[in-house]
Amino acid sequence: MEQNNKRNSGYSKIRRGFYKQMDEIEKKRRKTIIIIELICLLLASTILFCASIIEKTGKEKHVYIFGDTEQTISTKVCFADDIQLIDMNQLAQYCSIENKETNYVSTFTVNNTYVTFENESNIAIVNGIKKEMPVAAQIKNGYCLVPIDTVSDILFGIEINAKKQSTQIIKTNSNMYIFDKHPKIEYATDISRYLEYINSTDEYIYTLLNKQNPIDEEFEPADLVVIPEAYSRKDMTIKLHNIALQALEAMINDMNENGITDVHVQSAYRTHSYQDMLFNLYIEREMEKGLSREQATANANKYSAKAEYSEHRTGLCVDFSTKSIGGVVDDVFETTEAFPWLKENAWKYGFVLRYPEDKENITGYMYESWHYRFVGLEVASIMHQTGLCYEEYLEIFGN
Ligand code: DAL
Ligand code: ZN
Repeated sequence: MEQNNKRNSGYSKIRRGFYKQMDEIEKKRRKTIIIIELICLLLASTILFCASIIEKTGKEKHVYIFGDTEQTISTKVCFADDIQLIDMNQLAQYCSIENKETNYVSTFTVNNTYVTFENESNIAIVNGIKKEMPVAAQIKNGYCLVPIDTVSDILFGIEINAKKQSTQIIKTNSNMYIFDKHPKIEYATDISRYLEYINSTDEYIYTLLNKQNPIDEEFEPADLVVIPEAYSRKDMTIKLHNIALQALEAMINDMNENGITDVHVQSAYRTHSYQDMLFNLYIEREMEKGLSREQATANANKYSAKAEYSEHRTGLCVDFSTKSIGGVVDDVFETTEAFPWLKENAWKYGFVLRYPEDKENITGYMYESWHYRFVGLEVASIMHQTGLCYEEYLEIFGN
């Protein structure tokens, strides 16, 4: 009996141990299942989340409003590296800008000004001047996508209001022009000490003197300085306004650096009496051809100004000549090596060809290849790029 009891309690111990082990195995199994279930849940929700983001970004749109026309472009297409792009083709249509595309190169032209974009290139050519863009142009699928900030920087006559989901483009001027408002200029010499003069916005440098805008007989500009002999005629001293002179010096330095050393100023500031003497001399010469005084005066006034009307009175312009042509101031200047250089580069120093070839009826004077006027870099750059003469520039852009 006692033996039976002992055996029974032994079995119970074994059974209890067995059940305990089973319990632990079961607990572990459940725990593992729960962990697996949790991992699966986490994976599934991550996949769902990513899929929804991918779907959302694929479907996000940006609306461009051109007057009454709307253009919707996927944000994936009209943003590159967070840089917003605009479709030049649509913009050209809205602004009546001529558009030519060949072999993934698009050129947009308006009022004789132009910009060229090349597919996959971040260099735009604006009126012959290279302009770097933050990202490359994309010319495909009917689009010509270019950075919107670049367009703002080169197009005059529109306003661009970019918001998060839409961008509005408004025409602000009926006269549209393409020009780089901030062209990158490389100078041949160290220009730093001259930059404040080249970039001057002093009111005086914008003085307009022409047949409609005379100046008082007594007027004499302030800040006149003698032009150094190194780049002026040797037989007499001539003066120029200091701002124009500093810019001129920078230009002469660069010309010399480029190998053009035969160039000098033959005429600059003129007093009323000097201009009067010159004008009368021209009348006499015309009369020697057998013309009446009236006819001779009219003829002389095509290339020379009456004393109150000459820009030379301002001290802001120069007539160039060279030793090779004996210091003469006439059309022969076009044969010198200084001429093409000045035509191409004078604007970088704030000078413009004041009496261009095809603008006689606007400027009032015949073409003068030698007469350069200082107007400061900002104005000179626009005039050079647009081909406008000073009267036209003032009419369109004011000052
Ligand atoms: N030759 C220019 C027009 C002047 O005489 O001022
Ligand atoms: Zn002149």
